[in-house]
Amino acid sequence: VDTFIASVLFLSAMSGGLAVLLVIADMTLANYGECKVTINKDRELTVTGGNSLLATLAENKIFIPSACGGRGTCAYCKVRVLSGGGPVLPMEEPYLSPDEHAQNVRLSCQVKVREDIEIEIPAELFDVREFKAVVESITDLTYDIKELRLKLVEPERIEFKAGQYVQLCTKPYGKVKESVSRAYSLASSPADDGAIELIIRLVPDGICTTWVFEHLNEGDEVTFSGPYGDFYLRESDAEIIGVAGGSGFAPIRSILHAHADEVDRRGARFFFGACTGKDLFLTELMAEYALAHPNFQFIPALSEPTDECLWNGEEGLITDVLDRLIEEPGNKEFYLCGSPGMIDACVKVFQSKGVPDDNIFYDSF
Ligand SMILES: Cc1cc2nc3c(=O)[nH]c(=O)nc-3n(C[C@H](O)[C@H](O)[C@H](O)COP(=O)(O)OP(=O)(O)OC[C@H]3O[C@@H](n4cnc5c(N)ncnc54)[C@H](O)[C@@H]3O)c2cc1C
Ligand code: FES
Repeated sequence: VDTFIASVLFLSAMSGGLAVLLVIADMTLANYGECKVTINKDRELTVTGGNSLLATLAENKIFIPSACGGRGTCAYCKVRVLSGGGPVLPMEEPYLSPDEHAQNVRLSCQVKVREDIEIEIPAELFDVREFKAVVESITDLTYDIKELRLKLVEPERIEFKAGQYVQLCTKPYGKVKESVSRAYSLASSPADDGAIELIIRLVPDGICTTWVFEHLNEGDEVTFSGPYGDFYLRESDAEIIGVAGGSGFAPIRSILHAHADEVDRRGARFFFGACTGKDLFLTELMAEYALAHPNFQFIPALSEPTDECLWNGEEGLITDVLDRLIEEPGNKEFYLCGSPGMIDACVKVFQSKGVPDDNIFYDSF
């Protein structure tokens, strides 16, 4: 048995070592020369092969959503590869449905440009731009959430739909030697088109959020690309039900400000889930908004209210509060933004009440 285990370990070590050598050889020795990338059959780029499809397109100012920054974990970077992408990699498999397999959908961050390649991307991605901006202000909203206001420099204006997001690029700092990009929902209104506002929660040891919290200062120059995403208010007569936790407040704030007339016409309720009073923010802004728009209700809920905050609002997990206060599915649309766990649990509550999936929209992060 010992000899068998030793042989298995030896073979695993050998194949692991071989894989590492192949990757190093591919990075250092391989020369793929010039390759042609044909996009949507009518646009052609001549590029130097060897890089990922995602990075190659970005170098040519075509920006594919890539919320995880190319780590192969978000599945936002899907494109159709019609020819030349090589076989699907094992790490792509979990993110591709049978339908997507059949359509030759791939994760563009995992596809390497090694030969001429033909791809198809949604036409609206040609409108995504790279922006230069200056940090106008950084404001503490809670102990672990900051609001960033970025004044646009080049281009000077941005067009987006309330609810969409941008990808902020970091600069190298400390032990982080490379710049990364991360997705952040636009918290400002599209009418305020000379600047953008982001609401960012600190993730302990997170590359981008540590940079924002510890290294970014007012007056610094930053770059971001956008806008991306399909989380925006749909045209209908349905009551608008917003649900958010933590920094998920951002896109809902943008939607409320951009669509105040729709809020008046359709009616809206915004459920915001937090742990304790320390995790609440922008409550005054919401109170003012409710005064100006009688058809709007802000419903914050604390899951662990402490004695010192003298809480007299809703108590419990946001799912329990929704279960209590959303009477029947009726004519309602649900817009959710928060952690995947919160979103899954809320969607289950709505489904149990008979809400059709078509009336539920979300961005999870
Ligand atoms: C469409 C979209 C919109 C988003 N909008 C916002 C927004 O408006 N505000 C905002 O604050 N964030 C938002 N995010 C999340 C954001 O993109 C980053 O994932 C997050 O800020 C962490 O980045 P980081 O570089 O600091 O952490 P990383 O260096 O990427 O991660 C460090 C570690 O923390 C883990 N981790 C990553 N994210 C979280 C998390 N949220 N909670 C707990 N652990 C985590 C990772 O698995 C990793 O182990 C959004 C994400 C998406 C996909
Ligand atoms: S960029 Fe996130 S999976 Fe490709």
